[in-house]
Amino acid sequence: MTNLSKKTDHGGDARSSEQKLSASSTLKLLMNYARPHRLAFVGVAFCALLGISAELLQPLLVQIAIDNHIVKGEGGGALVKLGLLYLGIAIVSFVFTYLQNNLLQYAGQSIVARIRKDLFGHISKMSMSFFDRTHSGSLVTNVSNDTETISQFFTQVLLSLVRDGMMLILIIVLMFSLDARLAAFSLLILPVIFVVAALFRSYLRSTYQQARSKLSRLIAFTAENLSGMGLIQSFRQEEEQLGRFTEQNRNYWNANLRQIRSNVLFNRTFDILGNAALVLMVWLGGRAVLGETMEVGVLYAFVSYIRQFFQPINQITMQWNTFQSTTVAVERIQRVLETKPDVREPSEPERLPLKLDSIRGEVDFRNVSFGYRADRPVLKKLNLHLKAGEMIGVVGTTGAGKSTLISLLNRFYDVNEGSIQIDGTDIRRISGSDLHAAVGLIQQDPYLFSGSIVDNVRLFREDITREQVMGACRFVGAHPMIMRLQNGYDTHLSERGSGLSAGERQLISFARIVVFQPKILILDEATANLDSETEKLVQEALSSVSQGRTTIVIAHRLSTIMHADRILVMKDGQLTEQGTHAQLLTLGGHYAELYRHARQSGREQLPG
Ligand SMILES: Nc1ncnc2c1ncn2[C@@H]1O[C@H](COP(=O)(O)OP(=O)(O)OP(=O)(O)O)[C@@H](O)[C@H]1O
Ligand SMILES: [Mg+2]
Repeated sequence: MTNLSKKTDHGGDARSSEQKLSASSTLKLLMNYARPHRLAFVGVAFCALLGISAELLQPLLVQIAIDNHIVKGEGGGALVKLGLLYLGIAIVSFVFTYLQNNLLQYAGQSIVARIRKDLFGHISKMSMSFFDRTHSGSLVTNVSNDTETISQFFTQVLLSLVRDGMMLILIIVLMFSLDARLAAFSLLILPVIFVVAALFRSYLRSTYQQARSKLSRLIAFTAENLSGMGLIQSFRQEEEQLGRFTEQNRNYWNANLRQIRSNVLFNRTFDILGNAALVLMVWLGGRAVLGETMEVGVLYAFVSYIRQFFQPINQITMQWNTFQSTTVAVERIQRVLETKPDVREPSEPERLPLKLDSIRGEVDFRNVSFGYRADRPVLKKLNLHLKAGEMIGVVGTTGAGKSTLISLLNRFYDVNEGSIQIDGTDIRRISGSDLHAAVGLIQQDPYLFSGSIVDNVRLFREDITREQVMGACRFVGAHPMIMRLQNGYDTHLSERGSGLSAGERQLISFARIVVFQPKILILDEATANLDSETEKLVQEALSSVSQGRTTIVIAHRLSTIMHADRILVMKDGQLTEQGTHAQLLTLGGHYAELYRHARQSGREQLPG
């Protein structure tokens, strides 16, 4: 679990990335994504305009009712007509607001869905080195929370700018047309509003960012604990972890309360300002009405507009915070999108096609040097030639670099020096999909997806039939085990194939290989979790699958590899011995010693 902490956490402290924020690059990215939906946005603006106009007409109608009819003592027909008109306008406002919301949500959600898809697509093309250094929790945050924040930009920020902006302008126009003097007085309050908003702004932003970073720590902590739950329970660390959780939880709770408090304070301050303006209007307007320089209805309309005036201002200033968080989110997403995979797909002129049905399966490691970090070489000037169809066994000490060799052949990483070739073609010139169709890998702890057994064997490829899947499972001896499961081949496996034993998962991954039939087959400790009975079965299946295929088998159990055409012994990133079982025994080196040990300890039944 500790290695997680070395990884970067995009979801971590937002303040560190704050300096690099650039509102214009945020807008540029968002506008690029928004462009295909520009018609929808025009529609939104149009609907908003109609909706607002309808809303703002209402006080005017009341003003007419008061000044032209009620004050003059006329009631009846005209008032009823005005009432009906008022209702009609309310309905129009409803309809357009509804349309505007739907259009906006449609466009906003489509944009965000697109960003999410691009992001996931990009992440799945990243090299293994990226995942070595990036916290998966932070990528989850990118795909879920950050995109959600961006959707708020469209559904809240943009909407508010359009709708509240228009509303503000219309209200000012209406107020001036009703009574210019009173309108001018109400505008006096604007500078005060700006000062208050500016004072609050940075404080609100910092409380928001703190709450966010505390939340992402809480999420990361929870995720880490979930994946290590078995360990925690077996070492009885529940209390300690709960204590650590409680601390994180309290931090988040505090940060959240602080954020909510400051928000409430900000909003209420606005309310007070609004009410002060209202009092001023009633006082000034009231005197004007008493002095008969203003009609009562006009005062009513004014008071209504003043109330409506503060709402959009408040909204727009609140949106500033959302906009801030959008820039943070966009920046984080952009950082992922702009990270180029270390392992590059070959560009068109240098790419060489690999004909899957005609490749021979020759593999060459030429002077290969590689280290995960520049200062720690793992493989040193390694040379190795695998003949087409050869079966190679690899043994070696823990950490010798066996799995690394395989990762390089799969191009999870690129070599630092030298080259790796398949049939004489540098694998850097082969497209990823060709390479992975040619090279099949079974790992010690095979990954299964949540899905049925059938889907796990055919990896969700619909062109592979159920019969092919069942045939492969029979072939590797997985069939009886699968039939014992509750729903047989349709049994749904949950995350990481929990519900199956490690050996059962390996059997399933063997069936995968039989279905996909790669020309080069790699087994990295692939039978380590099988009992010797089952292993024998798999071995038999394997020896028929590996006919005509180049096969590399890495194993600690010597019985697994002793019949290989050639056995390689690795130590400290170098090949120290190679030859057949008999040759290596005669050589009397490391392999011979390993063999002697294994026999004497009785761990394996090995012939003498
Ligand atoms: N993703 C990684 N990042 C950094 N170092 C790594 C990474 N994977 C492996 N290493 C280091 O590279 C060296 C070789 O590891 P490798 O997994 O190739 O060993 P191995 O021979 O397969 O060992 P084992 O028999 O235990 O599977 C080790 O020292 C290991 O610590
Ligand atoms: Mg290994």
